[in-house]
Amino acid sequence: MGSHFKSDIRAVFENDPAARSVFEVVFTYSGLHAIWAHRIAHALFRKRWFTLARMIAQVSRFFTGIEIHPGARIGSRLFIDHGMGVVIGETCEIGDDVVIYQGVTLGGTGKEKGKRHPTIGNNVVIASGAKVLGSFRVGDNCNIGANSVVLRPVPDGSTVVGIPGRIVKTNGQRVGDRLDHTKLPDPIIEMFRTMQREIDALKAELERTRRAAESADGRQPVGYGGEKGQ
Ligand SMILES: CC(C)(COP(=O)(O)OP(=O)(O)OC[C@H]1O[C@@H](n2cnc3c(N)ncnc32)[C@H](O)[C@@H]1OP(=O)(O)O)[C@@H](O)C(=O)NCCC(=O)NCCS
Repeated sequence: MGSHFKSDIRAVFENDPAARSVFEVVFTYSGLHAIWAHRIAHALFRKRWFTLARMIAQVSRFFTGIEIHPGARIGSRLFIDHGMGVVIGETCEIGDDVVIYQGVTLGGTGKEKGKRHPTIGNNVVIASGAKVLGSFRVGDNCNIGANSVVLRPVPDGSTVVGIPGRIVKTNGQRVGDRLDHTKLPDPIIEMFRTMQREIDALKAELERTRRAAESADGRQPVGYGGEKGQ
């Protein structure tokens, strides 16, 4: 517990340039208070003291605005910045060195039973307002963009943004570049291609009609353009 206590404080200094002194951090960072309360609640939960564990979680929620279910498994050096409105579900698992901002939900979709909350890898940043919903894994070294809604597994090293969340970067490389000028569509070429497709379709239709008419007359079919058929 003592080593956790120190590394939790160190995580604040590593992630928040506004942190000034250990005294200030210990007494004013509600993210820290929520994590410490959770460590006690989780220990009780593991000993099957479920109601007492929930009571501690509720008191912590009242003072910090951060709701962590006592069953959630949290790694080392989690940093919850600002914190208000954070919800972490019962079957959620969080790795080491994770940063979570205000308004983040690590929740279920409301349909599953059993393991129904996400597993977050190591060294992940989950930006303000992001929702990660469902029982899947967010890989190591990922960034989840502010206000995104993530509903599917996220591979290691990805940046996910938007609703529903889509991967825009993998290991620092942009995915599906939206402004690749070599791949911009050419409307004139497209128009010619469309016309060519229509001409081919009309020729084929004309040929079918001509053959049908000739076989109805009992004549020898001739090729398109008047030449003799084989
Ligand atoms: C996602 C985030 C962590 C940055 O990750 P990153 O890997 O450095 O990604 P980039 O900044 O290079 O952005 C990649 C692309 O996603 C877009 N993007 C980034 N964040 C986005 C978001 N929240 N919503 C929509 N698009 C976003 C960028 O515009 C960029 O698009 P482009 O390729 O068309 O230019 C960051 O943008 C973010 O959301 N930070 C918020 C932190 C926060 O919550 N702060 C609150 C403190 S109180």
